[in-house]
Amino acid sequence: MNRPLLQVRRLTKHFSVNAGWFQPSRHVHAVDDISFSIRAGDSFALVGESGGGKTTTARLLAKLEKPDDGSILFDGQEVAELSGPVLKRYRRDVQMIFQDPFESLNPRRTVRAILRQPFLNHDAADKREIDKTIVRLLNQVGMEPGEVFMDRYPHQLSGGQRQRIGIARALTLKPRLVIADEPVSSLDISIRAQILNLMKDLQAQHNLSYLFITHDLGVVRSVCDGVAVMYLGEIVEIAAVESLFTTPLHPYTQALLSATPVADPVKARQRRRIILKGEVPSALDPPTGCRFHTRCPYSEKRCVEEKPVLRGFRPDHTVACHFAGAVGVDTTANSFI
Ligand SMILES: Nc1ncnc2c1ncn2[C@@H]1O[C@H](COP(=O)(O)OP(=O)(O)O)[C@@H](O)[C@H]1O
Ligand SMILES: [Mg+2]
Repeated sequence: MNRPLLQVRRLTKHFSVNAGWFQPSRHVHAVDDISFSIRAGDSFALVGESGGGKTTTARLLAKLEKPDDGSILFDGQEVAELSGPVLKRYRRDVQMIFQDPFESLNPRRTVRAILRQPFLNHDAADKREIDKTIVRLLNQVGMEPGEVFMDRYPHQLSGGQRQRIGIARALTLKPRLVIADEPVSSLDISIRAQILNLMKDLQAQHNLSYLFITHDLGVVRSVCDGVAVMYLGEIVEIAAVESLFTTPLHPYTQALLSATPVADPVKARQRRRIILKGEVPSALDPPTGCRFHTRCPYSEKRCVEEKPVLRGFRPDHTVACHFAGAVGVDTTANSFI
């Protein structure tokens, strides 16, 4: 089997926050001991409500934050140890698409200037060729003819067009892994499917791998191969997408799935909505045992006292719940871990 492109091992990030004078500083458990991997050409999703640690994971991968513990291997190399030209190569190979294209695009720069920047930063193309490459990219992201959009400013574009520019910018340097943090959450429902389809087409054309971050499980099924569900900094379930959708095992995953809209009205009526009690607890002081126990409809004494470990259920399906999964199914068989 070929080596995964990205391997995240026991990654941990806590932020210290000062509680006040003479108070010991406290720690936000943003990311706690998570492991997952992405094969070349695959799309992998991180899902969960806000505060789960998804963006922190993305920032750790982009080297915008330093992990406290654990490792990130890209193409077999330890990312923390990269320096010089190899680090520069990593920064080209791993690109980000952000949730709000309006905030991530400089309002005072034209599309041409925005898309030129990565080439200039990385000395990556013959200067005379850059504009031609940009026009080609614009056409590829559906902004045709590209020439027309070159001298526009972000405010002269629609939300969907701005996100297309964000995608084009991520692709300028031929990355291998694109991290998309809530790429369609700020867009109108009618535009979301267009952008997701575009991302799927580009994946095939450019041989990309995606780390797709979203709070909306609905978008995962059409785009991703594997998925990890995060709750308060931890992965509670990790599986092949089809397996997760047909047999969600963790009560948190079941609740998230029951909240996604269903097109078929008959199925929609048959389905039981699971409404979770209360808010996501603070990551400053996460609950003991299973972190989900304060909101879980099935919680028992054991869940308060003992942290469940990830257990296998099927080869590509692993869950951390005392009442799900099976003893004896090999968790190491899960190719997403
Ligand atoms: N720089 C930071 N300092 C302190 N706490 C942070 C910082 N960044 C994120 N957090 C906290 O870490 C937790 C996870 O946040 P985040 O990774 O943004 O989750 P998500 O993207 O899933 O919504 C939250 O409780 C958040 O408040
Ligand atoms: Mg986030």
